[in-house]
Amino acid sequence: MKIDKNISIKPYNTFGIDCLASYFCELSSLTDLQELIASDLFKKEKHLILGRGSNVLFTKDFEGIVIHNSIKGIVIDAEEEDYIHLRVNSGELWHDLVMYCVRHQWGGVENLSLIPGTVGAAPIQNIGAYGVEVKDVIEKVEVIDLHNGHTRVLSKEECKFGYRESVFKHEREKNFFISSVTLTLTKKNHRFTTSYGALNSTLNQMNHGVQTLQAISEAVIKIRTEKLPDHQAMGNAGSFFKNPEISESLFQKIKEQYPSIPFYPAANQQVKVPAGWLIEQCGWKGKRIGDAGVHAHQALVLINYGHASGEEIFSLSKKISVSVKEKFSITLTPEVNIF
Ligand code: EPU
Repeated sequence: MKIDKNISIKPYNTFGIDCLASYFCELSSLTDLQELIASDLFKKEKHLILGRGSNVLFTKDFEGIVIHNSIKGIVIDAEEEDYIHLRVNSGELWHDLVMYCVRHQWGGVENLSLIPGTVGAAPIQNIGAYGVEVKDVIEKVEVIDLHNGHTRVLSKEECKFGYRESVFKHEREKNFFISSVTLTLTKKNHRFTTSYGALNSTLNQMNHGVQTLQAISEAVIKIRTEKLPDHQAMGNAGSFFKNPEISESLFQKIKEQYPSIPFYPAANQQVKVPAGWLIEQCGWKGKRIGDAGVHAHQALVLINYGHASGEEIFSLSKKISVSVKEKFSITLTPEVNIF
């Protein structure tokens, strides 16, 4: 295991922000991790675990150790007639795993095609798209407690999954290094989820509505490619904010003025409204301040057009939040982790 000093983390965050990490460590095995935990440097410095950096915004240099997780490997944990249980090491790329499952005809993750990031990052924010969340297929998550190097296995219930939420975002569990994720996937009698409007219409267009794992994956890839910018061409971290959940009374008040507002039912009699729609109504879609901008096809995605600093992106996000608050009395919460 090698630790480098004063490394630019531009290649390790999809916003393409050029910041420095005081120390940078690449992990390719759990032995590397145990060696790091035992080191004096680790005891002295704060740390940040990065997968592919697809959900972070750096607003300043990171004074500590950035740990880059490249621990790969997929094994079959168990197999039954109808299901396969797949244990996947956390440094695998999520989309590569989805493609591997689709190729083997294992169902459950096809709606989550083309989501950037690693397998280890997926449970932290309970990644979701087109009616499916990763919690729907997670059986258990294995972690290493960075305080003492001990291994623990958390059941799906112990992960406390919610909308872009899990126990791994809480203070104590932030110190867990996710080492592997075990998924339960269908081998036959797949449960297709295709009711999401855009997915349904794209499937009809592309495959006359025929539902296979391959067809759903291809349709999702088509929608995402059209709507969401490729971070290699334009730095971004996907949705910048979460979709807010508001009270029924506030929703009704907004609906009187904007009868076409899209919405979804949420827990506790709340209503979920798309942040992208709110941001567009405030006139931000396609706007640009210097090299920081709002994507022209999806207002929920903030863009680094080249040389924006993390501060500039963050400042744009604050301006957007203020105008949404003023117009709709709704507070937006970032989905992206800001450092
Ligand atoms: N909308 C607008 N203007 C916009 C963007 C969206 O009016 O600029 C409207 C759309 O017309 C649609 C609604 O808002 O009626 C929802 O839009 P979309 O289907 O694009 O999804 P989203 O709610 O903006 C969420 C996830 C995405 C996920 C898609 C598809 C969050 C924060 N985002 O976006 O996840 O891919 O649904 O399921 O929940 C991510 O988390 O990084 C991400 C990309």
